[in-house]
Order: sequence, then C-alpha cells, then structure tokens
Amino acid sequence: MSDLISARPCPEMLDYLSRRRSVPVASLCDPGPDVAQIQAILKAAARVPDHGKLFPWHFLVFEGQAREAVGGALRRAWLAQDPQAAPAKLDLESARFLRAPLVVGVISRLRPAKHPAWEQALSAGAACQNLCLAANALGFGTNWLSEWYAYSPVFRKEIGLDERDRVAGFVYIGTMAKRPEERDRPDISVLTTRWTPGAVVNRGDSYDRSGLPSLSWLDVSSD
Ligand SMILES: Cc1cc2nc3c(=O)[nH]c(=O)nc-3n(C[C@H](O)[C@H](O)[C@H](O)COP(=O)(O)O)c2cc1C
Repeated sequence: MSDLISARPCPEMLDYLSRRRSVPVASLCDPGPDVAQIQAILKAAARVPDHGKLFPWHFLVFEGQAREAVGGALRRAWLAQDPQAAPAKLDLESARFLRAPLVVGVISRLRPAKHPAWEQALSAGAACQNLCLAANALGFGTNWLSEWYAYSPVFRKEIGLDERDRVAGFVYIGTMAKRPEERDRPDISVLTTRWTPGAVVNRGDSYDRSGLPSLSWLDVSSD
C-alpha cells in the first residue's frame, strides 16, 4: 500500500493546495492538454468520493472545432433571453468557449437510488475540483465557471442535456499566460468550532451580518 499518497507524506501536495488559485479565463492560452493528458485529467476527475458507486456525473469535452460549433447554441441562448441583443454582444457571447483551448462541462445527473440527491450533487462538485487539480498537476491553469449559459434552458437543450441534468461547472483549461494575484482567504478560526457540549458554533464573519434572517436550506428550491 506504500504507493498510496495517504500512506506517505507528500508536502508538495499540501504546499500546492495552500497556494492554489484559479486562473482568469483571459489568462488561459494555447497549448491545452493533449489527448493523453485529457484522458488522465478525466480519469482523475472520475476518481472522487461517490456514495453508492453511482457515478452521478458525466463529462462534456469541448476542444478544437467544437468550441466554435457550440457558439451557435450560445448565440441562440442569449437571443432567447435578450431578443434585442446587438450583433456585437451576440458575437461576444458566442465566443465564450474560445477563451481557452479546452473546456470540460461536468454534468450532475442524479441516479435513482436511496442515496440522497444532495450527496450525488456533492460528488459532482468533487469531480470538478479533481478535474482542476489534475490539470494543475500537469501544469495547466484552470477556472471552474458556471456563467449564465449553465442555467439557460435553450443552451442546456442544445448541448444535449435534459431536465435530469444539472451543470456542476464548465472547467476552462489552458496554459497560464499570467500568474493570478492572491485573493482574500477566510480566517478559518472564525469558521471552525472544536466542538464540546454547549459550544458556541463559529459560523464565520459573514454569518447573519445584516441581521436579516439567513437563507435556510428549507428555502432553497430543489428543482
Ligand atoms: C459551482 C461554481 C461556479 C462558479 N462559477 C463562476 C462564474 O460563473 N464566474 C466566476 O467569475 N467565478 C465562478 N466561480 C468561482 C471560480 O471558480 C473561482 O473559485 C474564483 O474565481 C476564485 O478563485 P480561486 O479558486 O483562486 O479562489 C464558480 C465556482 C464554483 C464552485
């Protein structure tokens, strides 16, 4: 078992995770991963915690010409929500997938199973993050985005999704042209409670900051 990373320390991995950053799409350029690298990235993405071995996700790979071809769907989807859109705006929206050499859509597809939908959705999120980390390990920059088209019924249908599918993310992958700047990170001490009976739970600085009732999971639609 000594080949398992959990069986031997890997300080490089922790060091990387402590410094990891998404790369803005404007800073992602050619070259992207080659065929073998894409395979390796997808394989790592599929190796995530998955309660019940349901594989409740699948991948849509957009590379080469496909990034251009999907532009028609983006154009029609934008037009559906903004019928007066100027041609320049439509050109801009239709070029979204051309911003990086590779875009992988991670799609959450709930399986009929006793395992909760929530857990199946979390597994899709883990697949997105594994996908990013695997691409990063190969030296590529990544950005996990949803953007408007992930929620556009027209776009979703045009790329072959149905009502059981939900976009977990479109992961943009490419060579990093510019190192991203650091970004504020939370103080984990205000987000962490070493629980004891009667402990006051640290929920983070932003919790109930406005004094308004906070969003409850009961209020979140499950559609
Ligand atoms: C599900 C999901 C969807 C996201 N969608 C967007 C998006 O549409 N646009 C955006 O700017 N960032 C989006 N992000 C945030 C970026 O992936 C990224 O986390 C952010 O730019 C901060 O960079 P960091 O990963 O270095 O902290 C999304 C993150 C998640 C988890």
